[in-house]
Amino acid sequence: MRIDVISIFPDYFAPLDLSLIGKARESGLLDLRVHDLRGWAHDRHRTVDDSPAGGGAGMVLRPEPWGEAFDELDVEGAELNRSVVVFPSPSGVPFTQDLAADLATRARLVVGCGRYEGIDQRVIDHVAGRAEVLEVSLGDYVLNGGEVAAMAMIEAVVRLLPGFMGNPDSVVEESHADGLLEYPVYTRPRTWRGLDIPDVLTSGDHGAITRWRQDQALRRTARRRPDLIHPSRVDADEELRLVQPADAGELLTLQRACWVQEQQANPDVDIPALSETLHDVEEWLREWVVLVLRRGGRLVGAARGRTHGTSWDVGRLMVAPDLQGLGLGRRLLAEIEACAPPEVTTYELYTGAGSAENIRMYQRAGYRLSGWGDAGEVPGAVRLTKRRRD
Ligand code: ADE
Repeated sequence: MRIDVISIFPDYFAPLDLSLIGKARESGLLDLRVHDLRGWAHDRHRTVDDSPAGGGAGMVLRPEPWGEAFDELDVEGAELNRSVVVFPSPSGVPFTQDLAADLATRARLVVGCGRYEGIDQRVIDHVAGRAEVLEVSLGDYVLNGGEVAAMAMIEAVVRLLPGFMGNPDSVVEESHADGLLEYPVYTRPRTWRGLDIPDVLTSGDHGAITRWRQDQALRRTARRRPDLIHPSRVDADEELRLVQPADAGELLTLQRACWVQEQQANPDVDIPALSETLHDVEEWLREWVVLVLRRGGRLVGAARGRTHGTSWDVGRLMVAPDLQGLGLGRRLLAEIEACAPPEVTTYELYTGAGSAENIRMYQRAGYRLSGWGDAGEVPGAVRLTKRRRD
């Protein structure tokens, strides 16, 4: 990647010779060129600013040196769509990890650093006719100029270039990579000044470690950056209750979303949950005990049960696809089992024979495979049962 920076304080960029960015420059991964805007000013004092048209405080950067700079640096570039001109500005669009990732795919960035009250607007309008232009803000505060913002942006972009990181996984797992803040991290010693590393991290149980990290990332994000998180991802505002007729519409929508994966795993099976109408759902709501789980007001899970002799038929266990893997299914299953009347001795359910992940989840919850749903009841499904233990 080539980056050209234009500034009246080129010395600001000296730190980009250090550390990993310095290495990337040495290795040729990054071709960073810093230019002094005054090099394109021609009067004796190399003037680049003037008072604002219409009056007011401060000074504005004049357009002529910028025009010459962009001509000489050939902002159009040879590769269409692969070069961008970035103007750091407190009135720009927010700089985010997604924007950094987009810029990291480009072949060329030109960064124009403003100072004082800003750059004459005609500079930006003129360049916009020649190349893709972005005015980008580092945050809702005002710096003295674009240099510090440009440094931050360059670092965030360059570290995403393929080959920059020794271990590319560190980029995948860090804050913002999945829309959440990163979980807390620890290292040796195990105890320091009376403070211990959380036990789970030294347990060797990788599944438990992953779940703990997910949970910590969610909690931290919910506490510090609630704007990043949909309320349905937080368990604080949660409601588990018996279904009401008014839930039917959302339940229909949720079950269709949930059984699409099932259909993919069991392509030859006819899955009623995918073809039922609102009327069908309203009907079975009257015949089954149904629990629904809401988070942040959103219907995110459900399960149903009803007696059949001495067994409790469990079914329609569903969790919104974006919230799977957080243990909600296991909780709903335990809750619907607990709704069984006293005469029940066995829990029984069916799932697609090809749904390996579901089968494993039920087995972890104590269910055993007890047959194929061949007897005509549920073709293509397997039956799982569990003895009641109270
Ligand atoms: N220049 C001055 N303040 C800025 C900010 N917050 N972001 C980007 N560039 C700036």
